[in-house]
Amino acid sequence: MTDRYAVIGNPISHSKSPQIHKMFAEQTGQDIIYVAIEAPLDGFAATVERLRKEGYKGCNVTVPFKFEAAMIANGISSEAMDALESNNEADAINTLLFQTDKIGGRNTDGAGLVNDIEKNLKIPLKHKRILLIGAGGAAAGVLNPLLVASQSPLVIYNRTLNKAENLKKTITQHEKFQHVSIKPVEFGKLGDAQFDVIINATSAGLTDSEIPLPETVFAPGALAYDMMYGRETPFMKFARKHGAAVVTDGLGMLVEQAAEAFFIWRGVHPDTAPVIKALRQQQ
Ligand code: ATR
Repeated sequence: MTDRYAVIGNPISHSKSPQIHKMFAEQTGQDIIYVAIEAPLDGFAATVERLRKEGYKGCNVTVPFKFEAAMIANGISSEAMDALESNNEADAINTLLFQTDKIGGRNTDGAGLVNDIEKNLKIPLKHKRILLIGAGGAAAGVLNPLLVASQSPLVIYNRTLNKAENLKKTITQHEKFQHVSIKPVEFGKLGDAQFDVIINATSAGLTDSEIPLPETVFAPGALAYDMMYGRETPFMKFARKHGAAVVTDGLGMLVEQAAEAFFIWRGVHPDTAPVIKALRQQQ
């Protein structure tokens, strides 16, 4: 029987997830369909309930429902889920797995980002100096796997200092991060620090806003990664101009996070390279 999955968001029409999962299904021979569903802003939980009643096996969750998804996840897990270096269910969630009476949740965004950097771009994160720009949901979703991969001090750079401090507080509640050095820094106060990996997890690119960065922030060989995709952001332009060795958008991350969700649901790892290539050709 064909198993059904969905991505729930609002708005959702822009989502590339149905196309990505269709390519994964064709490639792996998995018998699934995957559709995009727009939930009313006050109707996320009801939409999930409806899908469960209709027999759907799981869903992806996108803006603005990732924190609500964390609230309805209630505790199942699986080997695939436990193997994933991820936020736990208290934080933002982008993948839900439905079982008869329970809902499991994980965030695959961070694993997607780490896989894109390490596997696709072939840049190991271990012992790299990382600058994470932003302290909203997107930054929170990737911080845990980034710290595990880098095992190094990390700076959270945000327009609003307080939000960077709160993110630090949340992550250092995890026992394994209690002794990791995480430094919240407010815009304009980076000084002459240099970084090997600079990741833009803000939504500034949506409005073509500049991120105030010192021109010397990119260490030799540095990677500049914008988690947005589909456009060259001011951050990417700045990075090209001021010496980043590799500059990329977040399309690879998008496909990799989808692959992690596919693995949670189907137990099969799709090959992401041809899917990234196909989407790049559409850009
Ligand atoms: P998301 O879930 O996409 O992360 P969010 O939780 O609203 O959305 O967080 C948005 C992030 O982008 C925040 O770090 C925000 O900075 P503030 O904490 O100071 O609000 C950042 N951001 C949004 N627009 C920005 C802009 N024009 N310049 C700089 N940072 C911006």
